[in-house]
Amino acid sequence: MSVHYKELGLVNTKEMFERAMANGFAVPGYNFNNMEQLQAIIQACVETGSPVILQVSAGARKYANQTLLRYMAQGAVEYAKELGKAIPIALHLDHGNSFELCKSCIDMGFSSVMIDASQHPFDKNIEITKEVVEYAHKLDVSVEAELGILAGIEDDVVAEKSTYTKPEEVIEFAERTGCDSLAISIGTSHGAFKFTPEQCTLNENGELIPPPLKFDVLDAVEEKLPGFPIVLHGSSSVPQDLITTINNHGGALQDAIGIPEDQLRQASKSAVCKINIDSDGRLAMTSAIRETLDEQQEVFDPRKFFGPARDALKILYMRKNREVLGSADRY
Ligand code: G3H
Ligand code: 13P
Ligand code: ZN
Repeated sequence: MSVHYKELGLVNTKEMFERAMANGFAVPGYNFNNMEQLQAIIQACVETGSPVILQVSAGARKYANQTLLRYMAQGAVEYAKELGKAIPIALHLDHGNSFELCKSCIDMGFSSVMIDASQHPFDKNIEITKEVVEYAHKLDVSVEAELGILAGIEDDVVAEKSTYTKPEEVIEFAERTGCDSLAISIGTSHGAFKFTPEQCTLNENGELIPPPLKFDVLDAVEEKLPGFPIVLHGSSSVPQDLITTINNHGGALQDAIGIPEDQLRQASKSAVCKINIDSDGRLAMTSAIRETLDEQQEVFDPRKFFGPARDALKILYMRKNREVLGSADRY
């Protein structure tokens, strides 16, 4: 049975992106797979007065079930109200890979979908994206598309290689597809291992500094498409204190490197209206769980370690909203 997102109290991304563009901030795209992540996201965004895009990935659908996740998002709308603020909440399909999948999410109440056909040649990417846009727009659902390839999960062959977005292609792409926002590739990548140490330089404190994002590409895209919402995927910063805590409590994460937060802060002030963060949340939860189980060996009630993990995630996302994305105090 089909249901429209408006019946669930969800919103599409139109108004939140307009506000983000006009005020120089980015809306968080936070992934969720379970109740604790969803609670932490909603608590963090209600407490900071931030809009939020709840993202469901292919992995999340496999792990938790698409129907269950949709009902959880519906519950999140009520939960936010109960916590005291009806912040705008969008339910978004992250990295949809086909028209059929996007349609199935739209039909069950998603308010936004990403059609990621960026691995296809330009004309094929346009053809697939356009088909999704035509269906989605009839139901007032937002569509995010992608041009350029990020390293990581999108690149099945060589994970380190990315293809930057070509600014000369964006006008034709946006016009022919009618998409509402565009994910671009400017040097971010998915996961907690975004760069090898060899790709980085050492600063005076002996810390590894990754290559800077290609702000020249972002600026050129913005110049071609003024006022058009841009999206950055793969924007975790991989906080080194979390890596240290994980490794001090039995973990083995070597050479985990992310995008420096000052660069994301800078991007948030531009046409970038949405920034996707997932890996940092995973690290925050893992570090709290490892620390709890290591220090309290008698614990076996999952609430005793999922609780601290949820709190750590909430604190991280409140800080992201306030200090990196600038999405706090907007509602
Ligand atoms: O885009 C990637 C997200 O971090 C989701 O990853 O498919 O493992 O849930 P996942
Ligand atoms: P990270 O792996 O950098 O958190 O990126 C998440 C993402 O882009 C989800 O679509
Ligand atoms: Zn992504």
